[in-house]
Amino acid sequence: MEILVNPLNKVITAPAGSNLLDVLREHQVPVSYSCLSGRCGTCRCKVIDGQVPGPAAAEGRLAQNDTYVLACQSTVESDCVIEVPEPDEVVTHPAKTLKGTITAFDILCHDVRRLRVKTNKPLEFSPGQYVQLQLWPEAVRSYSMAGVPVDDELEFHIRIVPDGRVTPLLDEKLQVGGSVKLNGPLGASYLRRKHEGPMLCIAGGTGLAPMLSVVRGALESGMANDIHLFFGARAERDVYGLHYLEALAKDFPQFHYHIVLSSTEESSPYQRGLVTDAVFERFERLEGWRVYLAGPPPMVEAATLMATRRGVPFEHVYADAFYPSG
Ligand code: FES
Repeated sequence: MEILVNPLNKVITAPAGSNLLDVLREHQVPVSYSCLSGRCGTCRCKVIDGQVPGPAAAEGRLAQNDTYVLACQSTVESDCVIEVPEPDEVVTHPAKTLKGTITAFDILCHDVRRLRVKTNKPLEFSPGQYVQLQLWPEAVRSYSMAGVPVDDELEFHIRIVPDGRVTPLLDEKLQVGGSVKLNGPLGASYLRRKHEGPMLCIAGGTGLAPMLSVVRGALESGMANDIHLFFGARAERDVYGLHYLEALAKDFPQFHYHIVLSSTEESSPYQRGLVTDAVFERFERLEGWRVYLAGPPPMVEAATLMATRRGVPFEHVYADAFYPSG
């Protein structure tokens, strides 16, 4: 079979039935991957023409666009044309399982906890990625790192979901010195370092964690992009992490943050309304921007739609699909 790989305009060959990701790697095609098991979405590619059967690229946002496949789970069944996303922005941090020791567990606001974990080996990841965290044997959840990969200590923000099966037990079960397991990194919503234009980050709730990671990764590595971070919360008591945002804004004049509250019940200095409306009232056109999203699926879907309508190609709107699990 012949595979034309865009935008590299490179033709490679493979026997019918070959795994697409194996073929791309064998031919040194730059393509991101991590879990190799269809979980993380990092290896998604676009099929322009031909038969490349495999599972849908992801739930939610990408499921609406069935031309995307997960290369690690797809087979080449005919001559085809595929497109690999951003071949100059490839990350490959093969997922691995690490042990970790809890070094801090404290309160960020009434329903968000900060968990810091020191791993037994360094975890290489790109800012914005996440891991699956096994908090205790039957409690596995996905959480994004809030920092950058500078040492062996990772920070996570965990929301307590009142009717959840795991998070209501956190205060009782987790303590400094306790053990956890991590598997990752996972996820395709990572910082694109080659981009020099403005960046828009929209966070809902504990979606602030990966957005902080993206922002820190950009600023602390010397990227000079203008960055606007919009943080949406329901009420003032749900706003957390202000000290992180204030410190970044103080040190980096190109960084701006905006807090938006959806509740109109109380007086507050913050802007009111939906965070997506606040963004797009401020920026009418977004050509040349890259957009990073993390938060509840309805927010991510609304923001994706509005960003694409304002001139950002779908490929430059980055979000991993997270569905609430408490
Ligand atoms: Fe293919 Fe994770 S590497 S889905």
